[in-house]
Amino acid sequence: MKKAGRQLALVALPLLIAGCAPAAVTTEGRATHDAYNVFLIAAACVFGIVALWLLWSIVRYRRRNDELPAQIDGSTRLELLWTAIPLALVLFLFVVSIRAQNTVLSDPPSRVTIDVTAFMWSWQFDYEGSDTQIIGGPGNVPEMVVPVGVPIHIKLRSSDVVHSFYVPRALFKRQAIPGTTNEFDMNFQRVGVYHGQCAQFCGVNHADMLFRVKVVAQDEFERFLTSGRGGAPTGGGT
Ligand code: CUA
Repeated sequence: MKKAGRQLALVALPLLIAGCAPAAVTTEGRATHDAYNVFLIAAACVFGIVALWLLWSIVRYRRRNDELPAQIDGSTRLELLWTAIPLALVLFLFVVSIRAQNTVLSDPPSRVTIDVTAFMWSWQFDYEGSDTQIIGGPGNVPEMVVPVGVPIHIKLRSSDVVHSFYVPRALFKRQAIPGTTNEFDMNFQRVGVYHGQCAQFCGVNHADMLFRVKVVAQDEFERFLTSGRGGAPTGGGT
């Protein structure tokens, strides 16, 4: 019995871990995470109900003699029921998705706009209304400095091939496509340094396309903007 319990824990643990998305650090990411949790809980409930029901009918209707249990056929009520339940579930999850998407795609007025340019093989960050420019290169991981708690508007472009702007802790990824500007907003809620990388295979040095998002207090951000560079050893300032 003890052994069975341990085996069950061994099986359950990876499943539990696989079900965990990292805690998001942006408002948009939190909306995504919340929607994900609703899906997870809905799926777990459906699984639990179906599994229990299945076990119950296996035990309840196991063969005892040659007599058949009551045979139900063409029940309109049952047909309606098992059409209505999944339909309601899908509609509910649709609404949850739309609401999360509205938060992720919302375009709040923001006073910080950063032009992000992906190129083979690094990133360039230009702050609109300022000379501040951060450019990464071989052996130099660029750092996008942003203030905490305010929406940051990002204009994402590519100067050559398709890349992908990915910040795992923001639960957000968007492609940088040549000839197109993809715009989105990110509102970081926690001071810290977050890893970012290109998530689209774009050539031999794709793996070098790393960057960092450095979230700082608002006054520190103002200092960073006026000094032209954040005092960080990364990124080429002007
Ligand atoms: Cu750029 Cu991969």
